[in-house]
Amino acid sequence: MTTPKPPCHALAFKRRLLAWFRREGRDLPWRRTRDPYHVLVSEFMLQQTQVARVTQYYGRFLNRYPTIKALAKARPKAVREAWDGLGYYRRAANLHSLAKTVERDYGGKIPTRPAELRRLPGVGAYTAGAVLAFAYEQPAAVVDTNVERVIRRAFHTRCATDAAASRKITETASALQPKCGRTAWEFNQALMDLGAMICLARSPRCLQCPVRPVCKTGRRTK
Ligand code: ADE
Repeated sequence: MTTPKPPCHALAFKRRLLAWFRREGRDLPWRRTRDPYHVLVSEFMLQQTQVARVTQYYGRFLNRYPTIKALAKARPKAVREAWDGLGYYRRAANLHSLAKTVERDYGGKIPTRPAELRRLPGVGAYTAGAVLAFAYEQPAAVVDTNVERVIRRAFHTRCATDAAASRKITETASALQPKCGRTAWEFNQALMDLGAMICLARSPRCLQCPVRPVCKTGRRTK
């Protein structure tokens, strides 16, 4: 497969976004670690729960199960209790089963290959990308709903909202990835923060947006 070409203004978009993130990015507990298990716990929690709520439960869960080995050995009932307050318990069951699989099949080390990550319970394209980018600092696209909206508005204003459009957006997110792993980590976290703090679904704050001059949507707003 050929590497997709970065879109027009890609460099300026990245420079502006990174500069903003270094000033304004959120200091979240799971951003202070590169431990793949800790990153996975945060991503499972964040799948259906708001950041503010996850910050209250993430530390508590990791105090109880600080390693993947500790989680793999736990009883299902205890894991469910540790997940209390977060809801959607299917995630806790998947995480528990993932821990057992990683202990059994990978000697306790969370894999680095996308295909292996994708075969783990509860891990789809998004979570696999998040582990690669946020734990292993690889230039992998991490496209959740917020990031999809940011890329759509900035680069694909005429894109529909179907599966083909989502593929195109993911392609653009991949083409935008900085080559340096540490910068890719920042870039992906920055896209998330822009989607959560500025490029809001209903009322985007274009006037405060760091990428406005190079955004197809922002440039048109007054
Ligand atoms: N949602 C999912 N992953 C996230 C992250 N790393 N930071 C903020 N929100 C997120």
